[in-house]
Amino acid sequence: MPSRFLFLLASARQGGNTELLARRAAAALPPSAEQRWLRLADVPLEPFADLRHGGGGYAMPTGHGRTLLDATLWATDLVMAAPTYWYGLPAPAKLYLDHWSGWLRVPGVDFEARMAGKALWTITVNADDPGDDSGSALLVETLRRSARYLGMRAPGALVGHGNRPGEVLRDAAALAAADRLFREELLAG
Ligand SMILES: Cc1cc2nc3c(=O)[nH]c(=O)nc-3n(C[C@H](O)[C@H](O)[C@H](O)COP(=O)(O)O)c2cc1C
Repeated sequence: MPSRFLFLLASARQGGNTELLARRAAAALPPSAEQRWLRLADVPLEPFADLRHGGGGYAMPTGHGRTLLDATLWATDLVMAAPTYWYGLPAPAKLYLDHWSGWLRVPGVDFEARMAGKALWTITVNADDPGDDSGSALLVETLRRSARYLGMRAPGALVGHGNRPGEVLRDAAALAAADRLFREELLAG
């Protein structure tokens, strides 16, 4: 079955470093791999309400929530392309993950079973010097553990470096890693 890659762009600006790095990585995908790109700022989610232990539970989302749920279920591979903000995920990316907690409990969706086995990839950029990825360790670990919680795979995390838009294109190691990111997995699969 051909792979279906959903790229979720979580930056608060367009054309930034994380998007550049994600597009570089995506260029290595074979034509058979479908790609869909969503900018989380274009599909803003409602504040998350914790209804797990009362409040009537969760209904099927509507509007942007439904768009994101459907795209998430469609994908075989989710790519969180999120700049590092305060060592962690930007708010829209975190909110998207929070909504997973609701989607897990929407009757009839079977979210947990349908997420199991999908891949969750991480692409992030921080403003530290090239080679020093430690400032994004919490972000990478958040996504790795979230994937594990849902029985997903976390085959790769790519950390690039740059501050002003375009600066990541000077991080030669990150560009080389972007070229390899999906290739090895697809060859193996
Ligand atoms: C709200 C905010 C928080 C940030 N926090 C960090 C941080 O914790 N560590 C870091 O190295 N850079 C931090 N940065 C810098 C961004 O990671 C950096 O500019 C990156 O290139 C932005 O990616 P983008 O161009 O894809 O938006 C922060 C930037 C913003 C706007």
